[in-house]
Amino acid sequence: MTEKDLESVLKETRQFPPKPEFVAQARLNPDRLAGLYRTAERDHAGFWAQLAHTEVSWHRPFSQALDESRAPNYRWFADGTLNVAYNCLDRHLPARGEKIALIGEGEKGDVRTFTYKQLHAEISKLANGLRSLGLQPGDRVVIYMPMIPEAAMAMLACARLGLTHSVVFGGFSAQSLKDRIEDAGARVLITADGGTRAGQGVELKKVADEALERGCQTVEKVVVYRRTGQRIGWQDGRDLWWHELLAAQAPDCPPVWVEAEHPLFLLYTSGSTGKPKGIQHSSGGYLLNAIVTTQWVFDIRDDDVYWCTADVGWVTGHTYVVYGLLGNGATVLMYEGAPTQPDAGRFWKICQNHGVTIFYTAPTAIRALMKMGEDFPNRHDLSKLRLLGTVGEPINPEAWMWYHRVIGKENLPIVDTWWQTETGAIMIAPVPGATPTKPGSCTRPLPGIAADIVDGAGRPVRDAGAGGHLVITKPWPAMLRTLWGDNERYISTYWTPFKNRYYVAGDTAHRDADGYYWILGRSDDVLKVSGHRLGTMEVESALVSHPRVAEAAVVGRPHEIKGESIFAFVVCRDARPQGAEAENLVGELRAHVAQELGAIAKPDDIRFAEGLPKTRSGKIMRRLLRAIARGEPITQDVSTLENPAIVTQLQEKN
Ligand code: WTA
Repeated sequence: MTEKDLESVLKETRQFPPKPEFVAQARLNPDRLAGLYRTAERDHAGFWAQLAHTEVSWHRPFSQALDESRAPNYRWFADGTLNVAYNCLDRHLPARGEKIALIGEGEKGDVRTFTYKQLHAEISKLANGLRSLGLQPGDRVVIYMPMIPEAAMAMLACARLGLTHSVVFGGFSAQSLKDRIEDAGARVLITADGGTRAGQGVELKKVADEALERGCQTVEKVVVYRRTGQRIGWQDGRDLWWHELLAAQAPDCPPVWVEAEHPLFLLYTSGSTGKPKGIQHSSGGYLLNAIVTTQWVFDIRDDDVYWCTADVGWVTGHTYVVYGLLGNGATVLMYEGAPTQPDAGRFWKICQNHGVTIFYTAPTAIRALMKMGEDFPNRHDLSKLRLLGTVGEPINPEAWMWYHRVIGKENLPIVDTWWQTETGAIMIAPVPGATPTKPGSCTRPLPGIAADIVDGAGRPVRDAGAGGHLVITKPWPAMLRTLWGDNERYISTYWTPFKNRYYVAGDTAHRDADGYYWILGRSDDVLKVSGHRLGTMEVESALVSHPRVAEAAVVGRPHEIKGESIFAFVVCRDARPQGAEAENLVGELRAHVAQELGAIAKPDDIRFAEGLPKTRSGKIMRRLLRAIARGEPITQDVSTLENPAIVTQLQEKN
């Protein structure tokens, strides 16, 4: 966020109290919310234990809520046993067997629905199929799928057997997929022949084959769902069709009861240094947090049709497409494609056709659709909508107001939800029947979530408007448990910065006089490009792996629609390219990064120079590069640079 944005956020004084009609029917009104806060403050662990008893079905009840003996490796409900798929399916069957659980709409317009009963049968068959492959509880399964109901089925089938799944976003490259498969040590890969995105075919099986060719020694079987019917490569003995695997299986499969701390999933995400981190989540605590936040923040009801546009490859697609919603027995819509297919009215057409009541998306999508004008939403009947949400990056007040006015018809609550892959569930967000909202603020921490803002020395920042590091001061049930295979990195990343006293989020924020939180952005080298989390280091390594690149430095710069865009400064091994040669190399490097990491990581700008600005100790001055990328005047003292003359060159276009 730039100084200018910060200023505009600080000046934002508009407030939108919940409408009385909404409050009247809401799960939580101001009184009930106040009650939750009081209980949580009186007895933090007891508050969560109480909810865990009422909201989660346990096979063996737990005797202790929070175990701090191995802090910061906290454990929740540790001696309880449960099954997450049982909680998302079986327990709903008596009352909701015929209720629609999933609606899948393909980009081409094909629609499929699954009732809870049907979903239960499909998942049981798939689980039986996976078990027939010899998988044991605790084994890892990587899922590389399009955004279709079968992706959710694959996750839940794993959960049913106590297998730990790791979903890899379908837009990631063969190399990224390989790295994740290898780090997780997966025995099985579940994928599809292909998918469709923005009118283009996505060649999932082909990319998966490439990943497996490069290594992935632990993978024994590849289960392939036939989505498009396209021609694909096939390795007999290793590859199996989903439909053939399921054909012989019984539609019931006893759930495997696991301990609450059993890893439900790993999800790889970018950090500031090195390779992506395998965020490890638990079963019991994660599920509980997912379920209650869905009730509090989305006010979920039995007659809702809920749609979250996030892909299952991201944490939002885990908690707020699958576990939080099915855990509550809700009806969830999944859409496979792009928001602009065939035109920018697609989202609104889906809302209209399916009578969507709750709509949750990313600011980047709102900004993109806002640019396309009001005609698209105005042409569709959005009258069923009752709640809107955003996630993934700060929303600028202008986009918030457009969402409020054009989509919400000035009538609907907007929940701006702050959380992370690591937190597992929403942490800071309005409760729609209770919290007045302010455009651009995620408002206040939810009950049972202890957030604070501290300075560099870990001292709480008390002055309204003063910025600092966002931290969480008490453990919460859905918190990450560790980084897969690297507990030391877990501790040093999240706990060491403030001497194990707080979980450090890596965001900067400030709090206003009403105690509302305003997220300013990341304090580390993590970018948010269209809401997707990318490490500058990852993009730099991808660039440097090109034979012509000697050195690269990547920074973010504000982008009207994407929030942030990627700006790369590149030093070549040979002479600095200029003119047409530079242009060609830019194209080549962009394609190279897409090949290495995936299309989402392609730099928007690449600038060539003979060197990077370094201090005498060899550290790249990123703040300086950020200013240059933004075209801002240089205010830093460049006299300490090893090569001050380079600054002029870095400011020149190729
Ligand atoms: C950012 C996404 C402002 C933040 C669920 C965080 C937000 C990172 C918001 C986590 C929000 C997420 N307002 N910033 N409402 N939500 N962020 O792991 O920088 O993909 O640290 O999880 O997204 O990204 P992740």
